[in-house]
Amino acid sequence: MQKIRIAMLGAGGISNHHVRGLLGNPDKIECVALCDVSDENMRERSEQLGGGQLQYRDWKKMFAEIGDQIDAVDICLPHHLHGAAIFDALKAKKHILCEKPMCIDLEEAANIVAGVKDAGVTYMSAHNQLFFPAVQEAKRMLDSGMIGKLRWVRSQDCHHIRGMFGGTWRSNLKSQGGGVLIDTGYHPTYRLLYFADAKIEAVRGTYSRFGQNIDGEDTASVQVRFENGVIGEIFTSWVMSNPHNTHQIHLVGDKGQIFGSDDILYYLPNGFKEPARFEVSSNGSAFAKSFELQMAHFAECIQEKKRPIHGAEEGYSTLEIILKSSRDAEGWQETAPMKL
Ligand SMILES: NC(=O)c1ccc[n+]([C@@H]2O[C@H](COP(=O)([O-])OP(=O)(O)OC[C@H]3O[C@@H](n4cnc5c(N)ncnc54)[C@H](O)[C@@H]3O)[C@@H](O)[C@H]2O)c1
Repeated sequence: MQKIRIAMLGAGGISNHHVRGLLGNPDKIECVALCDVSDENMRERSEQLGGGQLQYRDWKKMFAEIGDQIDAVDICLPHHLHGAAIFDALKAKKHILCEKPMCIDLEEAANIVAGVKDAGVTYMSAHNQLFFPAVQEAKRMLDSGMIGKLRWVRSQDCHHIRGMFGGTWRSNLKSQGGGVLIDTGYHPTYRLLYFADAKIEAVRGTYSRFGQNIDGEDTASVQVRFENGVIGEIFTSWVMSNPHNTHQIHLVGDKGQIFGSDDILYYLPNGFKEPARFEVSSNGSAFAKSFELQMAHFAECIQEKKRPIHGAEEGYSTLEIILKSSRDAEGWQETAPMKL
């Protein structure tokens, strides 16, 4: 198989992990170019990669000059630039791995889904937590019928973060596209979608801002009704830890429950009082490893013309939950304790 030649758009924080993902798959994929407005960030990534990447400050110029040397792009830019970068990559007929979210507007997202089909390229949503062993194992248990027919799913991620967003693109609605839900809360949203495995019928949202100096919400509670009848909940926050004794994932079916956080899962069939506890090994950090698995999967999908675990359609649906919930929550600013 020919190695995939990738260009990385955005060489900031998360690209560090994407580079580790590349370095873990030297036989499948290699980075041939970097594009960032920060020379310093490109220098750091290039050093990490062992050097030799062509460097650009403008991806349009990069496509025009070295488009024939690139098979795919890896988009690690701030949210408001994703849509434009995707459309330019589609025009250049490049395969795309895009960090969350695909863009910050639902109509634009629908155009991306259609554009990906027209271009005939592979588009993979960088939903890295799908590669966490606990998520894979819970899905395997669900699909094997261990808890029967799924009825209810809860998916959450909360972190107590002390004021690190003020003044960055994450604090601004125009560049972030929302608050915590489109950022940290994006992960529990696609996890919910992965388990529910159905189209979205209705979305409800309740938001607040307790302590982060950002335009958007720092805490979001979301309810989703899926077309297969499954009911879902997402809870995410930047001002509190996960509520005690709750779990990152919790699935309830008509025959039992699966729940857990990090590398620990519990299985409680109906009729039992105590759940069985087991550890799923992630061979180190599930987070770090997920970027290696994600990059390998992206390369294999291109090489073998396979559909990615989450493609453009799931990128759209994840954004649909987020943006519809934001619309439903409107008005929350009036009673939020923290005013801007
Ligand atoms: N999967 C995860 O767990 C995870 C974690 C963090 C961030 N992310 C996602 O990764 C993406 C980037 O986040 P980050 O934390 O790396 O942000 P960052 O601010 O650290 O990096 C963004 C980079 O984009 C560059 N940039 C800005 N404008 C540009 C332009 N016009 N042209 C070229 N480069 C430009 C910046 O110079 C910077 O190097 C976001 O979509 C974010 O949601 C994902």
